[in-house]
Amino acid sequence: MRVHGQVVVPGDKSISHRALILSALAPGASRLTGLLRSADIESTAAVLRSLGAQIPTLGDDMVVTGVGRKGLSNPTDLLDCGNSGTTTRLMAGVVAGAGLTATFVGDASLSRRPMGRIARPLRAMGATVNLADGGGLPMEVVGGTLRGVDYSSEAASAQVKSAVLLAALMAGVPARVREPALSRDHTERMLAGRGAHLSIHPDGVSIEPVDELTPCDMRIPGDPSSAAFLAALAALADGGELRLRSVCLNPTRAGFLTLLRRMGIRIEWEARDEGGELVGDITVAPGKLTAVEVGAADVPAMIDELPLLACLAARAEGETVIRGAGELRVKESDRITAVVANLRAIGVRAEELEDGMTIVGSDRPLAGSVRTHGDHRLAMAFGVLAALDGSQIEMDDAECVAVSYPEFWNDLARVTG
Ligand code: S3P
Repeated sequence: MRVHGQVVVPGDKSISHRALILSALAPGASRLTGLLRSADIESTAAVLRSLGAQIPTLGDDMVVTGVGRKGLSNPTDLLDCGNSGTTTRLMAGVVAGAGLTATFVGDASLSRRPMGRIARPLRAMGATVNLADGGGLPMEVVGGTLRGVDYSSEAASAQVKSAVLLAALMAGVPARVREPALSRDHTERMLAGRGAHLSIHPDGVSIEPVDELTPCDMRIPGDPSSAAFLAALAALADGGELRLRSVCLNPTRAGFLTLLRRMGIRIEWEARDEGGELVGDITVAPGKLTAVEVGAADVPAMIDELPLLACLAARAEGETVIRGAGELRVKESDRITAVVANLRAIGVRAEELEDGMTIVGSDRPLAGSVRTHGDHRLAMAFGVLAALDGSQIEMDDAECVAVSYPEFWNDLARVTG
């Protein structure tokens, strides 16, 4: 298999959620270009509309007219977040801070994911949060007159951090969030760009009250977590070169692309500043892959790419060890158990660790059936291995890529065809 050409990867998912939410809140018109149109972003748009925000049909070039901090209202129905943890956790912060009452529901995968991590800080601020037995959805959030908080999060989670910042913003109270390691910082960058008063500390961030956010036009950069699948495809190809256009290279997100270099792949980019985010075009060419060791300090900047790293490791020389990644167990699927089971199902030697996995690379042809568990990142990671010459890999649900990258299979076919 050879690669060729270029791909404009779809808009960043994390930034797209936040662009819709912050534009809906800032009174006035915000023009958004390059927004991701995928199932997860439709979930955020639908939840915002249920709360009275004016969100037009999602498009590549759209204008959102914000209703202001006090402009949201109680929904008349359940807030269906589909498969999207980011929608649920960020919007729970908005609902709590706005003093509204709402019940969040989602699909089977989302309903199992832990919500205690946002319930704890929101309760500390004075909101009532009722979770289902087991700590998941349905989740009822009853806002009120919230107070400020100084909260230490157990996980390096941008969703927890953002829930607290948004609750404080909406309620007009100060808040500080401390995290064990820096999680993605798009909320901080985007809030600061819209007039919020933020201070960045070595262990986290604090926010002071602001009357209203200011509207802001934004071009949403390409998603590095989507670009990663194509970069891995190019790394594993037998020849050619692939160019990935306008990819977000924020250091809290670029861990996997940097790691490819450490694994022996020729990957080049030049980052420029675009609207508060680093953005660049990436060129990737095939190379001989060497196994790596990844630990807790590496994990936050490549958390969503770890299933893909495990698949790449199946083709690297040596044993790859991933540790400090227990968070993988509470993503869209248990990504430790699911990835290891799938790798074994196609003939790869892999072992589960409590907080990660080990994978032994080889160049044997890969054959067998894998299960996605409806997890978009598993579908794309194993889709990359399935594209290799000699692979015979079957997949139960390839359609779930619609969560973050609806055009994935078309793009893959185009650059390898
Ligand atoms: C996200 C944060 C990360 C990431 C998820 C998107 C976000 O989750 O895995 O895909 O947009 O804030 P955590 O906050 O749970 O680490």
